[in-house]
Amino acid sequence: MIFGAVLAGGVGSRMHVGSMPKQFLPLGDKPIIIHTLEKMLMCSKLDAVYIGINAAWLEYMNDLLIKYDLNTDKVVVTAGGNTRNDTIFNIINEIEAAYGEDEEHIIVTHDAVRPFVTLRTIEENIECALKYGACDTVVPAVDTIVTSNDNQLITSIPDRSVMYQGQTPQSFRICLLKDLYAKLSTDEKNILTDACKICVIKGTPVRLVQGNTANIKITTISDYKIAQAIVSSNIDGLEEDTLC
Ligand code: CTP
Repeated sequence: MIFGAVLAGGVGSRMHVGSMPKQFLPLGDKPIIIHTLEKMLMCSKLDAVYIGINAAWLEYMNDLLIKYDLNTDKVVVTAGGNTRNDTIFNIINEIEAAYGEDEEHIIVTHDAVRPFVTLRTIEENIECALKYGACDTVVPAVDTIVTSNDNQLITSIPDRSVMYQGQTPQSFRICLLKDLYAKLSTDEKNILTDACKICVIKGTPVRLVQGNTANIKITTISDYKIAQAIVSSNIDGLEEDTLC
């Protein structure tokens, strides 16, 4: 079976709004997370979509599902965890409690705060995860990437032609992800920034799926303003090459 996982366990501290986690902020006529959930639900290949929510906001999320008429059997709300990866594994536990462990189960993890993902990207993730076991959505880096080990001086300037920016979805065979995670040391777990790194640290190939530059992650107030502009200009859902 194929499961969507909307990751919404964070509090959005870099957004500095205070009143609520950023995934609940309005974007056009509905909250950010409702845009994202609707995108996932457009994909008929997903058998169920799980939402991992910050525990204090579970009731609020359930109320939103009712308000936007999305409280179907296909949508399951569960508690997120302390880290993004904990949220993913909480969702995996819920999936396996309901459907059992199965080598064939696929999970398509997606940030709740990336409402502009396209159906094409979700479907390519599913195809790629079924075929190869793990994949990441990326776009080629447009800016030169500079590394600095001390925050003061440039350490290196890698060749931009091999640099990409990671987005989501990131999709995996659930058994593969669990097996690799179980093999990580505590030190390795502490340096994880995303789920694909679980595979990369253990030398397991992760295929690239082409993302879309509009698939931004709403992290700061500036991102939120850009997202509002995207929604009001109706370019949400368009692939780059259709904009020319
Ligand atoms: N996330 C999650 N569980 C966590 C932390 C983050 O599911 N314990 C989710 C967020 O809700 C978000 C996505 O991971 O949809 C990307 O993370 P990020 O943008 O860093 O979100 P926050 O952690 O909410 O933001 P901040 O780091 O500014 O507090």
